[in-house]
Amino acid sequence: MPNAISGFSKLSKSEKIEWLLETYFSDKENARTLIHQYWNTDEKLQKLHDEFIENTITNYYLPLGVAPNFSINNKLYTIPMAIEESSVVAAASKSAKFWLDRGGFKTEVISTEKIGQVHFTFDGDFEALQAFFKNIKPKLFEDTKAITKNMERRGGGILDIELRNKSEGLEHYYQLHTTFETLDAMGANFINSCLEQFAKTFIQEAEKQLDGELEIVMSILSNYVPNCLVKAEVSCPIEDLKSKDISNPSLFAQKFKQAVNIAEVEPYRAVTHNKGIMNGIDAVVLATGNDFRAVEAGVHAYASKGGRYTSLTHCSIEDNIFKFWIEIPLALGTVGGLTSLHPLVKFALEMLENPSAKDLMQIVAVAGLAQNFAAVKSLTTTGIQEGHMKMHLLNILNQFEATAEEKEKIVEHFKTNVVTHSAVVEAIENLRG
Ligand code: MEV
Repeated sequence: MPNAISGFSKLSKSEKIEWLLETYFSDKENARTLIHQYWNTDEKLQKLHDEFIENTITNYYLPLGVAPNFSINNKLYTIPMAIEESSVVAAASKSAKFWLDRGGFKTEVISTEKIGQVHFTFDGDFEALQAFFKNIKPKLFEDTKAITKNMERRGGGILDIELRNKSEGLEHYYQLHTTFETLDAMGANFINSCLEQFAKTFIQEAEKQLDGELEIVMSILSNYVPNCLVKAEVSCPIEDLKSKDISNPSLFAQKFKQAVNIAEVEPYRAVTHNKGIMNGIDAVVLATGNDFRAVEAGVHAYASKGGRYTSLTHCSIEDNIFKFWIEIPLALGTVGGLTSLHPLVKFALEMLENPSAKDLMQIVAVAGLAQNFAAVKSLTTTGIQEGHMKMHLLNILNQFEATAEEKEKIVEHFKTNVVTHSAVVEAIENLRG
């Protein structure tokens, strides 16, 4: 077992790498080569990435793919996706094309409210606390003016501050539950700064005006944003679903709806169903420099808001119209954070024609819906493995370092044969004699 190291963060990058190589790697030269291969030779660019986090030793690449032909409210988009899983980009592109010929995606931002809370304890009388809060509420707004000034000038800011009594669930527990409009910013820094100022003012004034022990526990935004909602939808007459791989549109529509209904009532299926949605959502969130952990946490909390984890998408068949939609909370930003720092994020946003946060919410929701449409379509028709294994074929060929010529021959062979890992290995071995 290696010894603990103190002062690691103070070491230079090469000292950190040397320590790692010495401590963990038997083939040090190989590990060193790998670190350097992924290291950008453009010093400025590398420094930029080094400084995003602490203790950076090299870069970790993910492919950046694009899915073209997305018609969203009659405007065409090519959507950038950063993801390692094969077939996600292909599935998105296929869905985009499918719906392009059938009216495209229609979207709507329902609300854009963000939330932050100051959590505190108080052992005195609740009515006195209420009276105190009412009295100092204007001062809470006043004392954050320096932080909110710019946001307010652009039309955003603090919407409301509410005192919430949570002492039924936890003794002496109360909150300042605050709602915000952060416009094109995801708003984490803005919200947290406001909350920390509330906490300061609140405790200072409580010491002067309130009987009882009041203690601030913490001040932090919430990643649960059920009022920062976007809806995306596709619909068409059932007979228009007919396509190369849907010969019986009516049967397809019924089965598709059944699959969505299963995800609505069965949590085991809902989790996988929603995971497929997140394949699309996370890929765009990541490509556009947004916080996919925040989005994941908020989306799954939303999926359980009724007390049971359920599907994020829904389907209806009425008056011969097939309709499929998603409604999800997405707290996204197109200014601030990585958006102005990471060159590929800027590139991705430019590709999306520099969207507002609201535009991006709609694009991301569409990516999730498209992904889910492709997955459920495959699952209820050919099964998922056919497409997956075709894409996986290339990964296996790369593992075996197949040449371009070998790849061409083997891909041709598997156009008419079932792809399995062992079948691909056998085909490579046969080809190589
Ligand atoms: C795989 O990454 C995602 C799927 O499992 C989603 C689904 O089952 O709906 C195919």
